[in-house]
Amino acid sequence: MILLVTGGAGFIGGNFIHYMMKKHPEDSIVCIDALTYAGNMETLADVLHDSRFKFFKGDITDRALVYDIFESEHPDVVVNFAAESHVDRSIENPEIFLQTNVMGTQVMLDASRKYGITRYHQVSTDEVYGDLPLDRPDLFFTEDTPLHTSSPYSASKASSDLLTLAYNRTYGLPVTVSRCSNNYGPYQFPEKLIPLMIANALNGKPLPVYGDGKNVRDWLYVDDHCVAIDLILRKGRVGEIYNIGGHNEKSNLEVVQLIIKALNQGEIKFVRDRAGHDRRYAIDPAKIHGELGWLPETSFEDGIQSTIRWYLENRPWWEHIVSGEYQKYYELMY
Ligand code: NAD
Ligand code: DAU
Repeated sequence: MILLVTGGAGFIGGNFIHYMMKKHPEDSIVCIDALTYAGNMETLADVLHDSRFKFFKGDITDRALVYDIFESEHPDVVVNFAAESHVDRSIENPEIFLQTNVMGTQVMLDASRKYGITRYHQVSTDEVYGDLPLDRPDLFFTEDTPLHTSSPYSASKASSDLLTLAYNRTYGLPVTVSRCSNNYGPYQFPEKLIPLMIANALNGKPLPVYGDGKNVRDWLYVDDHCVAIDLILRKGRVGEIYNIGGHNEKSNLEVVQLIIKALNQGEIKFVRDRAGHDRRYAIDPAKIHGELGWLPETSFEDGIQSTIRWYLENRPWWEHIVSGEYQKYYELMY
């Protein structure tokens, strides 16, 4: 099988490529990534010289380039990770989110239709469901929860989900969509909560907690997300949406305090809240568990410790990133 993975130089796409290369030695992978601020070739250093892997630097909104790659590489399966992924950036500048997340998805769907594939998978997020109240712990997002987006990021992701499903209904394209909760693990860009707090603590900077810090996220170790996508590609039903999450809800304060304790350093600073800040996310994974037998394998306790260890042992990876362009963004934000 030839897989075309977009956004493979990013956090989840990079972990997915590592996972798939190990798990399926018979498959090969073609990656398209624009190498935006969030894409990093160092994430793919381990696989770059493997004959089963090919990398193309390119933008998924570039129709001619995407069509050329389909023509030369003949992918069987497409997994679309490429996206602008950071909520705070979408609040500052929504436009690029619509371009990449919506128009880029359209190009990938059109190419998949034109050249023929056996499966197109759209990687999406629980943020399309909006949020849940903190005082109703009995409520969870199911695949039937109405879409109710809060940020330009989540609105763009919901749009790309709908477009993907429309290509199935209208053109018969064999698609699946997954909506996952917050991921953490190696190679995550240090603008996201967990790696930002680790990097700041190690650099002696304050740990900026938005609002009252009581917002809840449902954390999943990135490898468990990769396993779920692999299962959906092989056994998931065409035209279906699968929620992915492991019932691992934590408030932001709990997560930050755990990092401070593990590193034995770091000081919290409460800062201005995010506009439109979603209060609580919580996935009901009954469908993917019932149909595909998926359950997360990594406990939060183990996952967070190994993530912290990874950032301690791989300082050059994130120290390159937190210099330069990112520094300007950071100064603007905090
Ligand atoms: P990321 O920001 O770490 O990586 C995104 C990658 O996409 C980068 O390598 C970037 O260079 C590339 N990219 C961006 N625009 C592109 C374009 N126009 N053309 C080609 N490549 C482009 O993101 P991530 O956290 O790894 O998220 C990957 C996907 O998973 C996204 O679709 C996101 O919405 C979804 N998702 C993320 C999470 C999470 O917790 N991080 C959870 C659920 C779903
Ligand atoms: O739920 C899945 C989503 O998770 C993905 O679709 C997004 O791509 C991904 O970025 C993530 O979105 P969040 O907004 O939940 O992640 P983030 O790491 O930005 O923030 C997590 C929580 O921590 C959120 O409640 C905001 C808070 N936060 C974040 C930052 C960066 C802080 O309190 N301080 C911070 O500095």
